[in-house]
Amino acid sequence: MIDNFFGYDSVDISDDGTSVIIIDQTELPSKELFLYLKNEEDVAEAITSLRVRGAPAIGIAASFGICVTIKNLKTKDFTAYLSEFNRVYDILLKTRPTAVNLRNCLERLKSTLNKIIQDGCTSVEEIQERVLEEAKLIKSEDIEHNIKMGELGLSLLKPGSTILTYCNAGHLAVSRFGSALSPVYLARSRGVTIKVFACETRPLMQGARLTAYELLKAGVDTTLICDNMVSSIMSKGLIDAVITGCDRIAANGDVANKIGTSMVAVLASHYKIPHYIIGPSTTIDSRCKSGEDIVIEERPCSEVTGKWFKNQMAPEGVKVYNPAFDITPAKLLSAIITEKGIFRYPYNFK
Ligand code: MRU
Repeated sequence: MIDNFFGYDSVDISDDGTSVIIIDQTELPSKELFLYLKNEEDVAEAITSLRVRGAPAIGIAASFGICVTIKNLKTKDFTAYLSEFNRVYDILLKTRPTAVNLRNCLERLKSTLNKIIQDGCTSVEEIQERVLEEAKLIKSEDIEHNIKMGELGLSLLKPGSTILTYCNAGHLAVSRFGSALSPVYLARSRGVTIKVFACETRPLMQGARLTAYELLKAGVDTTLICDNMVSSIMSKGLIDAVITGCDRIAANGDVANKIGTSMVAVLASHYKIPHYIIGPSTTIDSRCKSGEDIVIEERPCSEVTGKWFKNQMAPEGVKVYNPAFDITPAKLLSAIITEKGIFRYPYNFK
């Protein structure tokens, strides 16, 4: 078993089903602030502004978002419920384009709804109950996936190794334990030493603010580095393996992950260090043949020029390019690990 070092999940739903509860990741590491989101606007805002972030966590937040919105509706009219479901679905689907878990979770809830209708149900209470059941199942399955990915990932690491990770693919980004960081927490739970170098991950510093925070909470030996230190550290032989997460995996094994992941992959390949991608199979998008089919989110320029800094860090009016993700070609990766197994090039996830 993996110990729960954190005492909370990054996304949950209140017992009465009327609020999505998240820890506001934009306030970490200085403040552990929990938000109670009551409707689709709150949830959409929280996803867009990265209060809740990380591919699996976004999918779970959107699923619970649909549940609270239809629960909080005053009308008892069946048709009103259906049109509300579709309206909220469209709003949440547009919040972030790259992580496919969001679309997968929403589509899963829509087919649950269609099944309920086919069964001849016209009771709004039953719709609420069954959609909520499915959303809770999405979360509990993700927890199971975390545990399996932890076991498989750890089987590739020698005790005492030092890994390098990028962005945040830990407990904050998923249902509970993590994707890329799950093997680290499993090792910690078993008393096996795994040390971690965490890249700060410009521009939004998920590595510094979130990964370092959660690793320290779990008592993992953690060293924070700036992104431009990766080559130097690898060249000194300090890294045994790179482990990162993923936001969408194409059918050929190309991987979209946080911008900068491909840079780390190129360096790992140069220094002959294995690079493992760990993510649940819900991140595989068979509709994308290769990385070229994956939509890359572009985010506001202000994230590069000023966010998280006391003063503006670039002159007013400078041109900025801010893609939030990049594509790592399948060939550069040593393996992709899902809860279903360890896959190697050439990839066939079926
Ligand atoms: O923009 P974010 O912070 O939502 O992006 C998340 C990532 O890219 C993470 O690196 C992660 O690997 C995917 S979620 C487990």
